[in-house]
Order: sequence, then structure tokens, then C-alpha cells
Amino acid sequence: MDSKNIDKTLFKEINKRRTFAIISHPDAGKTTLTEKLLLFGGAIQQAGAVKSRKIARAATSDFLSIEQERGISVSSSVMKFNFKDYEINLLDTPGHKDFSEDTYRVLTAVDCAVMIIDNAKGVEPQTQKLMEVCRMRNTPIITFINKLDREGLEPLDIFEDIEDKLQIDCIPLTWPIGMGKRFKGVYNLEKKELGIFSPGYTPQNDDGVFIDELTDSRLDELISETQAEQLREDVDLIVGASDPFDLSLFLNGTQTPVFFGSAINNFGVKEMLDAFVKIAPHPGKRPTATRDVDPLEKAFSGFTFKIQANMNPEHRDRIAFFRICSGKFTKGMKIKHHRIGKEIKISNATIFMAQERNNVEVAYPGDIIGIHNHGTIKIGDTFTSKEPLKFLGIPNFAPEHFRRVILKDPLKAKALQKGLTQLSEEGTIQVFRPLLGNMHIIGAVGVLQFEVTMARLKAEYNVNAAYETIDLSVARWVTCEDEKILKNFKTKNESSLTLDSEGWLTFLTTSEYQLGFTMEDWPQIEFHKTREHN
Ligand code: G4P
Repeated sequence: MDSKNIDKTLFKEINKRRTFAIISHPDAGKTTLTEKLLLFGGAIQQAGAVKSRKIARAATSDFLSIEQERGISVSSSVMKFNFKDYEINLLDTPGHKDFSEDTYRVLTAVDCAVMIIDNAKGVEPQTQKLMEVCRMRNTPIITFINKLDREGLEPLDIFEDIEDKLQIDCIPLTWPIGMGKRFKGVYNLEKKELGIFSPGYTPQNDDGVFIDELTDSRLDELISETQAEQLREDVDLIVGASDPFDLSLFLNGTQTPVFFGSAINNFGVKEMLDAFVKIAPHPGKRPTATRDVDPLEKAFSGFTFKIQANMNPEHRDRIAFFRICSGKFTKGMKIKHHRIGKEIKISNATIFMAQERNNVEVAYPGDIIGIHNHGTIKIGDTFTSKEPLKFLGIPNFAPEHFRRVILKDPLKAKALQKGLTQLSEEGTIQVFRPLLGNMHIIGAVGVLQFEVTMARLKAEYNVNAAYETIDLSVARWVTCEDEKILKNFKTKNESSLTLDSEGWLTFLTTSEYQLGFTMEDWPQIEFHKTREHN
């Protein structure tokens, strides 16, 4: 951008914003780390606030009781807090029972991710799945290896596991001294500072002990001779064996800086947060179907990545979670909803603070605002001040669970159709119509969505339906440049083919294994795990 035209306030606001999510497997410590980050940011006053929400959520198994928690869960979908001069937006990646397509889609709205690895477990399946999504946009990843106060795997074995399963180079910025009962702390390789561990630790600014040369005998006094010797050997080895940290390789997702600590004991968290604000990127350019949008552009733009329905029958509204990509948002501004060609005035958008929702006066790129609507907004919808744009990279993700919908009252076919269309537009589920037959197959990334769908069909559309299980677990959108081959493929695989809600040809099958066979048989057909919205 021409530097003469840069709006200084916008520049300053963008530079101090960091928008990120935490990726982890259940129980690695996401809730604990979130809580510590909010405590450091002063957004909550006491430990336990986030945790109690999680307990309430984990204890609920049916959708309606989850709904009772709705007020809380909406405001915790995005948690905004300040740290030093930075404004940080932490987006929640639902991950226990409520793992869903939203979990993936949240990652399309962030600029960076913190990956938590449980020291005893290494890389676990959910982390691997979420990393695949981060890979799509080469999202920079910072790694926090948690629970060093317990026995676990050797750090180098964890690195090997990460490098093997996630194809990203680990660059340690801190190094642990022992683990479990022998855990003494971490040595900050860059600052050359020793952080000494104690349970229930409260970090202070002048905490670390500066140890320039590891030969310094103070080290032996501080952490014992044997452990000092071990640290010297370890540091020698890793400094020799690993590449130096390179900001550009981190920003393009090739390297991940690694921190060690114990979230529950506050330990190593501040070190990570200090580095995070320094190296995590501020909001950057975003691709649209026509051009890249620079956050510094004065014209406002952004997209919807998540829609949350309000189940309260008195208030049938939905909140669209909207990521600002350029320009400044001001209360009452008029913006254009391009898919339906309508201009709307936004006078009651919500900004999500850690524990509350506030009416937003102004917001900047990187911020997430909530727009109330009555079902007119779809996932992926772009809003701008005027230019018709379409942001890319907010796709549908291939579902992994499937059910057939059986309508109990045949007179409600239309209402069922309407409900399913709406719910698929909101990203709750995906709907497929087989090329043969006329039953609806619905697909979801997480099984809770089936419960949500049934409850909403009943409450909002007055439809009584039931599910039938179906032996499917893999979906792929199919395309082919050669029309003839595609036609042939369709004829030979008609019973496995469906059209999704936007009319895209989708192949459904029983297993990855089966998919592999089909892919081998049809090398010219492309099988896609994600699909951009129309
Ligand atoms: P999640 O959101 O990723 O699912 O994980 P969460 O933070 O809830 O942590 C899962 C469990 O791991 C919790 O124990 C939590 O206290 C524990 N934990 C988190 N960080 C650390 C750590 O640094 N060291 C140790 N030793 N444990 C840690 P829980 O028994 O399931 O719950 P609670 O009874 O402790 O609340």
C-alpha cells in the first residue's frame, strides 16, 4: 500500500491485534491454559471461571441442556483480552462432545494457533486433524508442551513425534530441566534466563535468573550439580542439532517455536505469551475470488465463519460471527451483504469479552463481531462497505458421520426440507441428496450435531423426524476436468453419489480404505476434502 495513503489509527490498531486459537486434543490443557492467559490479560480475576463452564459443558449430554448453557457458551466462543499493549482475540475451538465443523472453521478466521501437547502423550488424533486445517493456510503455530510437572516423554522424542506426524520443524525457545518430581524449571535459550519452577507459581517481571554462560557455577547451586550437567549437555546437543529460529519460516508454517511448562502451575505460560505477542502475526492480507484484501484498506470488509442459533423461542435470532478483514467498523454503519445484494445497518453488533458481551462501538481488522440476524446469513458470506468481494478459504469440511433422516409425518416434507436447508446454511450439518432415491442423508463432523439438528427441527420447524444409521464414514467432493470421464464415473458409481445442498457432486463411502480403491480406479477424478461456498 502507498504509505502516503495509510490511515495511522488503522495501522496502529492492526499492529496491536493478535487473533488466534488453541489447538489440542481433549485433556491436554486447553481450558487451563486459556484460563491462565485470561488471568495474565486481566480479563478474569480468579482461576476457575473457564473451568466451571467446561465442567458444565462436559456434564451435559443432550442438546437441550447444552442450550441452557448457551448464554455462556456464546460469549466464550471468542475471548478478547489485553496483554501489554496488545489486543488479543482468542477464538474457542470446541473439542470435547461439541467437536464439529465449527471447530475447523474457527481456524479459518485466525492468524495464528497455539498447539498444546501433553508431555506424556505426544501428538494425539484431534491435534493432528486440526493441524491439517492449519496447513491449508499455512497458519503459523506456536507449540506449548504442557504438564512438565508430571513424568512424560523425553523432549527430543516429542519433537520427533511432532516432526513425523505434523511435518513441522520444532525449534525449542525454552528447554526443560527434568520433569515430574525432578522438574526444576526451564532455561530460556534466547534470553539465557533460568526460570525456576515451584508449584502454584506466580510469575513476576524480574523472575528469571540471567545465566549467560552455562558453565556458570550458580547453575549447580540453583538446580543441583547433576541437573546442571544434564542441562549443559542437552543445550549443547540441541543448539548443535536444531536450526535457529527463523521468523519467516515460522510465519509460513515450516517451523514451530516450542515452549515447555505446566499450565496448571502458571509455569512457562508468561514466557510463551511474551514471545507470542512478539512473533505472532498481526492481521494480514486475505484472498478473495478477485484480489487480495489488505487490512489497511479503508473500505470495510469481512466474512462470517460461524453461526449460532438462539434456541429461546422468544428470540428466534441467530448470531453470525464475523471476522473483520479490512477497514474500521463503527456502530450504525451500513454494509452490503453481497450474496443477497442487500444493504444492512449494523447498530447492535456484539463484541465478545472474556465473560460478557458488549455492544460494539468500533472494531478493527482481526476483531470478531457478532451480527444478529433472522436466518439470512450463511457461513462464508462476505460483507463490505461497497465492493462486491467473496472471501475464500472458509470452506465446508468433509463430514465423518452420517445419518439418514426418516420423516414421521409425511405432510411435513416441505418443513423438513426448509429446516435442513437452513441448518446446512448455518453450517450445523451438511445435507446430501442421493442421485438414486430421495431420502436425505445428513453428514456432520461431530455427532453432537445430529442431536442439535433433531432438537432444532422440532422446536423451530415443528418437524418430527428420526434417524436411521447408515454405513458411511467418508465424503469427498468430486470434480474432473474431462466431462466424459466424469460422466462415466457418475454412471459407474451412481449408488455412491449425491448432490450436496449447493448442488455439488459428492462421493460417499464406507471407509478411507474404500475411497483409496476408488481413487486408484479413477486417477483423473479429483476427490476434495473441502469445498468453497458458492
Ligand atoms: P482440555 O481443556 O484440553 O480438555 O484440558 P484441561 O485444561 O481441562 O486439563 C485436563 C486435565 O489436565 C485437568 O485435570 C487439568 O487440571 C490437568 N492439567 C492441565 N494442565 C496441567 C499441568 O500443567 N500439569 C498437570 N499435572 N495437570 C494439568 P482433571 O483432573 O481432568 O481436572 P481437574 O480436576 O484438575 O480440574
